[in-house]
Amino acid sequence: MTLSKEYNWHLIAKSKEQIDFGKYDSMQIEVGEKIICLAKFKDDLYAYQSICPHAGAKMVMGYIDAQGNAVCPLHRFKFSLKNGYNVTGEGYNMKVYPIQINEEGVFVGFKG
Ligand code: FES
Repeated sequence: MTLSKEYNWHLIAKSKEQIDFGKYDSMQIEVGEKIICLAKFKDDLYAYQSICPHAGAKMVMGYIDAQGNAVCPLHRFKFSLKNGYNVTGEGYNMKVYPIQINEEGVFVGFKG
């Protein structure tokens, strides 16, 4: 699979299996100069901003709910892992980053 030229792609692991979440479903990782969150939900991986768009809580301290939303630990706003949409309606959308997996590994894409 060719990676879209729209993004700068960063290798984060050689394979999906190599990513060790331990007993958690999300973690913080450093990619290039950014700290982001990586989460697993139903066998898929998702990447998103590590800081809540509402008031800056660390998203990794929250959890992933049964619908596939990242739940902020501070005020419990929920954000879709797929598109960052604030599903609880407070109007703060979360930044998400695309993940691509090919024979070379697992990549996360940043714009610009
Ligand atoms: S800081 Fe995340 S919901 Fe308020």
